[in-house]
Amino acid sequence: MGSVAHLPAGSSQCPYLVVRDPEAVRDILHRPAEFSPANALIAVTPIAGPALRVLQSVRFALPPVLASNDTGSHAGIRKVVGSFFTPAKVAAMEPRIRELARAAAAQAAGELGRSGQADLVQSVAAFTPAIIMLELLGLPVRDLAALKRWGLDSMELFWGWPDGDRQLELAGSAAGFYTWLRELVGESVGAPGRNLFKSLHDHGLSTPEICSLGYFLLIAGQETTTQLISTTLFRLLEGTGPVTWAEAADEESARSMVWHVLATESSVPTWRRVSAQDATVAGQAIPAGAEILLELTGTHDLPGEQEEDLTLLAGTARRRRPTAYGLVFGSGIHRCLGARLAELEATVIVQETAAALPQARLRDHEPDWIRHLSFQAPKTVTVMAGKC
Ligand code: HEM
Repeated sequence: MGSVAHLPAGSSQCPYLVVRDPEAVRDILHRPAEFSPANALIAVTPIAGPALRVLQSVRFALPPVLASNDTGSHAGIRKVVGSFFTPAKVAAMEPRIRELARAAAAQAAGELGRSGQADLVQSVAAFTPAIIMLELLGLPVRDLAALKRWGLDSMELFWGWPDGDRQLELAGSAAGFYTWLRELVGESVGAPGRNLFKSLHDHGLSTPEICSLGYFLLIAGQETTTQLISTTLFRLLEGTGPVTWAEAADEESARSMVWHVLATESSVPTWRRVSAQDATVAGQAIPAGAEILLELTGTHDLPGEQEEDLTLLAGTARRRRPTAYGLVFGSGIHRCLGARLAELEATVIVQETAAALPQARLRDHEPDWIRHLSFQAPKTVTVMAGKC
């Protein structure tokens, strides 16, 4: 079940107990008293003094509220957040998602026609999920370019392997995000109408707690979806999935390609837990305090295989058997609250893009990838016009 993983070359070594067997992963997710999510938002690379001081200068703090909350207050807070993403509210957003997706795809088609190339990450994957998330939460739709940059920087600061200089840059960005967020929380609590921050305030959360939740949600609620869309578009255009680019213009085909990517190389391939006490999983003893990395998607050991290189988790080894799709959004009391929304957005955006750009062909077959401990996607999906 487990092995001590070694992080990619060039990074400091950081051991996790890696759990790949889907049954064991599910078992751990369903035993929250023994396997706590308290380490969910802890920086993979410890943040060094200078960067820490930048964060402290804005009183940056991520007290446990939702994803990393292992106390009894989790259920009530989850209910408040979940009320903004009910199945009915998500379904009612479909026309709006389609409207934005169609406009973005038309713009990408125009850009392709004018300049001969377009980056689909920026033109179609990046902004629609952010706009939809803010609209669902009742928050003002503004500063979208900054929000996208902050999200990527914070993912790298907390889930990547930045060196000291890079940490300092990323901490500056995280501090900017946090300051913006605190202002938004202050403004939203007194604003007319319903919004998430006001509801959390009414539920009794303090401003640092609301900021902590906002910091996680404003990243998790859109950048992960952008990354799922990016990988799906890339694999479609590369021609390595079960669906062709032309077929993806049909909604069912687009959906099945999104599911394929979720099952094989989701944007959130792993998630963490820490054992709160000595425990046993699949007959193996796990000591209290063990940092556990759960594999949710993609690169499973075939029976009898052993693998100790964590880079294999990052989607580079697609020869391996995919995990059950059922774990990609987690499982149990912390299961992702945005699963339905993410699938819907990805399906609609992929479908509308394939429909609007039938002539698109992949221009860059080897883009740079985001490769963090728990996030992955191509940074760009550059297409050019080709023959139909
Ligand atoms: C492709 C997109 C997404 C993926 C792959 C994904 C994946 C995950 C995973 C693996 C977890 C941890 C589950 C656990 O600990 O059991 C999680 C938690 C969470 N996700 Fe997502 N997510 C995505 C999009 C979204 C969106 C769009 C939203 C909101 C609009 C969202 C909101 C949340 C929240 C609030 C939690 C914490 C739930 C809790 O602790 O109770 N996610 N997500």
